[in-house]
This record gives sequence, structure tokens and C-alpha cells, in this order.
Amino acid sequence: MGIQFDERNLLADMVGRANGITRTEIERSTSKALKALKSFRKLSDDGVYGFPQLPFQTAVIASIRKFAAQVRGTFDTVCVVGIGGSALGAWALDCGMRGPHPVQGAFTPEHPRLVILDNVDPDFTHSALASMDPLRTLVLVVAKSGGTAETVSTFLLVRDWLEQAVGERSAAHIVAVTTEGKGDLFALAQSQGYRTFGIPENVGGRFSVLSPVGLLPAALIGIDIAKLTRGAAEMTELAWQSDLATNVALRSALCHWLVWTRKAKPIQVAFPYSNRLWGTAFWFRQLWAESLGKARNRKGEVVHSGQTPVAALGTTDQHSQVQLYIEGPNDKVFTFWAVNRFAWQGKLPKTRLGLPAFDALAGQSLTKLIDAERRATAAAMTEYGRPNCTVTLDRVDERHLGAFLQMMEFQTAFLGELLDIDAFNQEGVELGKKFTFGLMGRKGFEPYRDQFAAYEKKRGS
Ligand code: PA5
Repeated sequence: MGIQFDERNLLADMVGRANGITRTEIERSTSKALKALKSFRKLSDDGVYGFPQLPFQTAVIASIRKFAAQVRGTFDTVCVVGIGGSALGAWALDCGMRGPHPVQGAFTPEHPRLVILDNVDPDFTHSALASMDPLRTLVLVVAKSGGTAETVSTFLLVRDWLEQAVGERSAAHIVAVTTEGKGDLFALAQSQGYRTFGIPENVGGRFSVLSPVGLLPAALIGIDIAKLTRGAAEMTELAWQSDLATNVALRSALCHWLVWTRKAKPIQVAFPYSNRLWGTAFWFRQLWAESLGKARNRKGEVVHSGQTPVAALGTTDQHSQVQLYIEGPNDKVFTFWAVNRFAWQGKLPKTRLGLPAFDALAGQSLTKLIDAERRATAAAMTEYGRPNCTVTLDRVDERHLGAFLQMMEFQTAFLGELLDIDAFNQEGVELGKKFTFGLMGRKGFEPYRDQFAAYEKKRGS
């Protein structure tokens, strides 16, 4: 598998004892990592958590490919209505395989545009609707719970927009991705005759990119999901191995756990040197934040665990963030995401202009420059005692992206075991949701409306 993890700049020999860990510490903690592996393996084998099985669900993958083949050429826009884990995976895959939106090629029915409506900003929603042709748009409404306020409200608008244009045929433009047999979205899909794809009960939103949540939009925009899931399956095989030299997800989890908890690094900077991995950095932010930010551990003790994830883009953010990273508080650990082989070399013309700044670069390449800049930034950080590590992908293609996403999910799950927390729930977001329902007048949420009113009174508003 063409993914490597390099932890050398996390070591005390490189960044000093105050900020780095030692090989001895890693060796002494190996038994803890193996225990984490064993306990997570059991939870996976018992079916408590389902993301490790997703790449092997051949029937589901085949049915998605079949559906995508059936509708290919009919729609020039795929519109995802979803939020959080129901949207970020699709964005990561689109950006990873087709590049960021401003530089994607012309959209055609063979190469549809992906529009993700993941926010209830009225102006954004209005502009998005105005930019799409309902006759040529396929809408994917994605919600595991089937009742998320943002998704439901945007879908009501989108459905109305479709009905006004295509009338009774609107159901043929809608696919629901939700929990089979549960929730209001599933009930609506049944009553309206929408095509549905299921989200397994044991797969949470932020771990669902390789379920129909991410695979369906990916297949519809032409991504080879067979290669994507093959890469993820290869990573899964590796992630179950007890040899830390080959199990990059486990080794990386252990190193992160040691640096975070022993060297007091409450911030994790994901630092891709690839615009194609920028969407993945935002997907990762959710995975890391929601999974590891917890009030209590499994014993019920108050721990307030969590490491704030930050996304930075190389080389762009060298000119925006690195000053802070090098001279500001030493409270961060950096993970560079490097790419060995870009699809295009970016050879610079050999022409000499007689000007030192230009002539120094003439005849070289963007590939060489981005690599030099990343290695230079890592070296500078190390010199300043800032712990950093690097995950290198041989290339950004379906196989490596699938493997990388799966590696990040395993790494997060192993971290959860090492911290002894439940990485798969998100109770911290519930109260805000309940207040919103109270404010929107939803039946049954009156106590939250009252609690909110008391809060407002206390604020003097
Ligand atoms: O990771 C999670 O479970 C959450 O972030 C969800 O993805 C998010 O809240 C959206 O939920 P739903 O898919 O039910 O609309």
C-alpha cells in the first residue's frame, strides 16, 4: 500500500524532550496500542461499529454502480442535501478526484456538477437553486437520522423547486439516503416512491463516507468507487495487523496519543500539501473533533478530552499561518499530508531572464518546489521544537484516497480506545439542536423553548 507514516519529527531527539516522545516511550506503550487494536477489533467483529466492513459490502457497491450507470447522461447536476457527515465525505471525494470546484472541467451529463447544500444560509441556497436546472438535476437527500433540521428544511425547498418544474415526475429526480425502515425521511421516501439507499445502523455520519452517503454521489459524478473501496479494503487489512511497522493507522494513533497527552498539545493541524486533499482536510476536521471531543470517558469520569483540529493548506498557509505555528504557543502537533507523484509535473520554462528570483527557478518544476517547501517547513518547525509528522500518499487516485480515508477512520477509532472514550457518539451537539427545535416551535420541545427563554432573561435580552 502506497501510504507511509513518518513520525521522526515527533521524537525528542529532533524537537527536544519538552515537546517530543522517545522510541522507548513508543516501545513501552506498544502493548497499549495492541490492546486498543484488540478491543476495537472485538467491537467491529461484534457489529457494534460498522465502518471497517464498508469496503467489503460488494452487493451495496454493485447496486450503487448499477444505479449510476442507469442514470448516466440524464443529469448534468447532482445536488446533495445533507450536513456534517452526510455532506463532507462527498465533498472530500469530489475535490480529491476532480480538484477544487473553481478548476473543475466543463460540466456535462457525463461529467455532472456536484452541488452540496449543507447550510441553511438563505442567500447561498437561493444562489445554488438559481444556478441549477431542475430538469437536469438529480437530488440526493442524505440524513442518517432522517430528521436533521437543516437537511429537512433545505429539502422542502428543493422538492418544491423540483415539483414546480417537473410536476409529478419529481420523484424520479430524488434519491433518499437514510436508515432503512426508520425516521421521517424514510417514511417520506416510501410514501413518495423515492429510490432509497440505506445507511447501516452501526455506521455513524462521520464514518459513513464509504457507505452510500459518499459512494453514491461519487459514482454519480464518475468516480470509480470499485477502486476507492479496494484501496480502503487494503487499508482495513493492514489496520488489523499487530505489527506497528506495517499498521500505519495504529502507529500513527499511538504516536498522536503520546504527543497529545504527554506533551500537552491540544491542537492538531492537518496540513495537506495538495489542493486535492483540501476537502479531505475538512472531512478530517469533523472526524477528529466530534469523535475525540468528549466530556466523559467510558468509566463515566469527567475528562473533557479533545484535540482541536485545524486545517491548513501548503504552501498557501505558509504565508498565512506558519509564523504563528513557529513562534506562537507551542501547543500544536502538525501532520503534513504529502503526495509523492502529482499527475502533472509543472515543468517551468528554461528561459533565463537575467533576474535572480526568476533564474533560480527556471527549468525546475512545481512538483519539486511544493516538495521542497513542505520539507523545508517541516525542518523549520523541527528546528523550533514544533513536533510534526508526515503521512505520504504515493499519488491522489481512487485507491490511495480510499485507503487514506479508511486510515484516518481507523486512527480515530484507535485513539478513542487509547483515550477510553466513546468515539462514536456526539451528545454535545444535542442541546443546541433541542433549543433550535424549541425556537422553531416543534411539538414536544416546549421545555427547551422555556429553558432558552430563561437563558435569554438571564442575559438581560
Ligand atoms: O457524525 C455525525 O453523526 C454527525 O455529524 C451527523 O453526520 C450530522 O449531524 C448529520 O446527521 P444526519 O445524517 O442524521 O442528518
